Amino acid sequence: MFIMLSMKSIIIAASGNGSNFEAIVKKFEEWELPVSIEFLFSDNRDAFALKRAKKLGIKSIVIDYRETGDSRVFNNKLANLLCDASPSLIVLAGYMRIIPDFIVDKFDKRIINIHPSLLPAFPGTHAIEKAYKKGVKFTGITIHYVDKGVDTGPIIQQKCIKIKSGESLKDLERRIHRIEHLTYPAVLRDILFKGKNKY
Ligand code: GRF
Repeated sequence: MFIMLSMKSIIIAASGNGSNFEAIVKKFEEWELPVSIEFLFSDNRDAFALKRAKKLGIKSIVIDYRETGDSRVFNNKLANLLCDASPSLIVLAGYMRIIPDFIVDKFDKRIINIHPSLLPAFPGTHAIEKAYKKGVKFTGITIHYVDKGVDTGPIIQQKCIKIKSGESLKDLERRIHRIEHLTYPAVLRDILFKGKNKY
């Protein structure tokens, strides 16, 4: 049976490397999903993610936080951009700024984030390193809705891995990122097309 999927649109936000952004674009292309990636948003003019976007033929828009200088001005510009585009989902992929409450309210359950730990353990920055240094036996990734806290929103999916004895931090980081690149596109696809938006 052939089921016609309706067209969706997403915006991806990244502040740095952008490997999750690239994984999402490539997987969505491979799966031939009817998703328009409206643009990559970055708050950092120097983000490597912007180079990836250029190579992938995805439009990018930058509001450089350092140039804006004022979080109110920055957040208002960002809100206007998001409201004009009105995407099905806003996908945070290594986006390092806190989304202000008024934007969270406007896009309730339409902003998704990925975090490299088993939340609620190790929220915030350097999560992989914090888990590694703490000596936990298991860690992983969490995909969650964005709420008004930092890495506190309702959890959509987690993947757990065992830290191998003698494993280096670099190797652990590599394994975590590999899992992120496989899991994030699949979870986003399910939210967009399988109505799995009531986690
Ligand atoms: C990922 O580990 C993600 O979980 C976290 O930031 C990192 C971004 O990596 N939020 P990249 O920019 O996608 O390579």
